[in-house]
Amino acid sequence: MRAFQFFERITIGAIAMSVVLGAAISPSALAQSSAKVVVAHRGASGYLPEHSLPAKAMAYAMGADYVEQDVVMTKDDQLIVIHDITLDRTTDVADKFPGRARADGQHYAVDFTLAEILSLDVSEGVSAEDGVEKVDYPQRFPVGKSIFKIHTLAQEIEFVQGLNKSTGRDVGIYPEIKSPAFHLAEGKDLGRAVLATLKQYGYSNKSDKVFVQTFEFDELKRMHDELMPALGIELKLVALLSGGEENEWMGSAEGMREIAMYADGIGPEKSMIVDRDSVRGALKISDLVQLAHDNGMQVHPYTFRLDPGHVPAYAQSFEQMLEIFYFEAGVDGVFTDFPDRAVEFLKAR
Ligand code: G3P
Ligand code: CA
Repeated sequence: MRAFQFFERITIGAIAMSVVLGAAISPSALAQSSAKVVVAHRGASGYLPEHSLPAKAMAYAMGADYVEQDVVMTKDDQLIVIHDITLDRTTDVADKFPGRARADGQHYAVDFTLAEILSLDVSEGVSAEDGVEKVDYPQRFPVGKSIFKIHTLAQEIEFVQGLNKSTGRDVGIYPEIKSPAFHLAEGKDLGRAVLATLKQYGYSNKSDKVFVQTFEFDELKRMHDELMPALGIELKLVALLSGGEENEWMGSAEGMREIAMYADGIGPEKSMIVDRDSVRGALKISDLVQLAHDNGMQVHPYTFRLDPGHVPAYAQSFEQMLEIFYFEAGVDGVFTDFPDRAVEFLKAR
């Protein structure tokens, strides 16, 4: 009951913030920049703890075209919005549930019920490196301040759809099936459950404002060939590309042709498009965007951040990085922790 009351308070506060901030951005102004899209990566996570509802409200109000959800399953088969399959980096699970870690010292969401997870407090990420805890982004929202909670996928969809009704806008959602093979090994069919929830909330065909993304190509194929046909839906799928050696094939001409048999877009790590070693005035831009477009796919690279050390040396500023990707490399959208800056950039451009 206590957790529910906290959730309710956060939701009301988030809606109020969204309405206040959203008043400054008219639907027509947003439509002018609709050819290129802005995906709010874990919400406006540059300003508020990732995947909290306030971060989603802020992203919505800032004018993002899509708000991202990373989705993980609980012990009692509920879908929650969180990036990691473990709860340690962004919650106080170790303090609240001593003795519940696995052998690797981590607390896995699949080992906790939704009620238990709702009792946790969420904060900015703190990661352990060689046993030493380090705040992921020290200049962002302070760790341990205010009150943030985990919520379900259904609650987030209702939140976005509710704002779409109250503002008259049509902001999309962008759920990611997190570690589907891990979930299947745990006896959890995450992909099936996410698609069923999307259908329940009215997302059923490619014209609906949703992209479903995953890093695992086998799951992408399963969604395309088995899960969506079984549910009688056909949604846009995005193949995420990490750029690692294990999926190097995906970036080749042949790989792009194969991916296009199942996906409507790719979400590559941004260095697969502009080489990290590029220098100003001599950018090394790969053929990935062209290959994807030749195969009818959109390109939404990740992740655009303006924190110190996150704007590559080949760009003079965050905005110049956006210019390079949107207009020199020709991508169709970007995942960013700072959706206001990308929205303003596209409006000015
Ligand atoms: O899903 C696109 C981008 O979010 C991929 O990276 O690790 O933040 O989910 P990650
Ligand atoms: Ca993601």
